Amino acid sequence: MPAKILLCLDADPQPSVFDAVVAIDAGADHLLRHGGVTPADVQGLVHGAMFTRGPKELAHTAIFIGGSDITAAEALFREVPKAFFGPIRNSVLLDPNGANTTAAAAVLTAGKHVTWNGATAAIIGTGPVGRRVAKLLAAEGVDVRLASRSPAKAAKVGAEIDANLVSGWSSGHSELAKLLDGVQSVFAAGPAGVEVLPMEVLAAACSSAVGPQVAIDLNAAPPVGIGGVGSFDKGVLLHGCACYGALAVGGLKMKLHKRAIQELFTRNDALLDAAEVYALGKELVS
Ligand SMILES: NC(=O)c1ccc[n+]([C@@H]2O[C@H](COP(=O)([O-])OP(=O)(O)OC[C@H]3O[C@@H](n4cnc5c(N)ncnc54)[C@H](OP(=O)(O)O)[C@@H]3O)[C@@H](O)[C@H]2O)c1
Repeated sequence: MPAKILLCLDADPQPSVFDAVVAIDAGADHLLRHGGVTPADVQGLVHGAMFTRGPKELAHTAIFIGGSDITAAEALFREVPKAFFGPIRNSVLLDPNGANTTAAAAVLTAGKHVTWNGATAAIIGTGPVGRRVAKLLAAEGVDVRLASRSPAKAAKVGAEIDANLVSGWSSGHSELAKLLDGVQSVFAAGPAGVEVLPMEVLAAACSSAVGPQVAIDLNAAPPVGIGGVGSFDKGVLLHGCACYGALAVGGLKMKLHKRAIQELFTRNDALLDAAEVYALGKELVS
């Protein structure tokens, strides 16, 4: 059996240590780690991976694109398939800053408590994780309220995701009660170290007949994103709402990250972005 080689492409000057450790734990035998990668570098690096082994061995070489700069990573991801020739290709996973695996884990976690089709969900924060949560939920037929400090920004981002299912809302503290009115789930996808949803607002929403049944916080750095929810809380019932802290969601995220790396080595034609990672996660939790 040929060694499993993972080509790691990262736009950051130093490729991610976190991603390297996960890849080794997921079974990769050798990592070829490249930092400071630009779109112009991609073709040469990918050709090195795809032309060195025979067709039957291509599934044993795969590509991971990570790093803290999500826009830069997405640009690298778009370049990779351009280097392939028909069946001469390698499987690729995009997970910059853990955004895809984190968003998928958050939606899968909340999905234990709600039936998505026809549901309404609120997402606070329009960063990479919030956007991906919105996209996954819209694909499930959820009416998504994407909230930003700038409602115009939320509306613009929402229209890019799915104009019929994602609408722009304000995440201002005085607007949060309105945001949560009638939603079955809420995701706090604000930045590290910022409380974006005070517990009294969540509690008041939960006291209504149609309040949130599940609340997911993605910020583990104190102060956490939802006041009163512990980072390790896993479905702790607060005011009748099942609350999850970021580190509880992080457990599933780690499993999913490893599962996605393992998937790469099962074939040579996988292109794993948020939706594909989410589909793998569904299998994992079923
Ligand atoms: N558990 C894990 O494995 C894991 C992995 C990745 C990320 N995370 C966490 O997931 C969360 C979201 O990640 P991300 O990369 O999407 O975050 P991010 O880009 O840092 O921020 C998310 C959004 O929060 C809003 N925001 C920024 N400053 C704010 C402030 N002072 N007050 C209120 N809102 C503010 C912004 O949206 P608006 O401008 O639209 O308001 C921003 O786009 C973060 O807390 C991150 O640490 C966890």
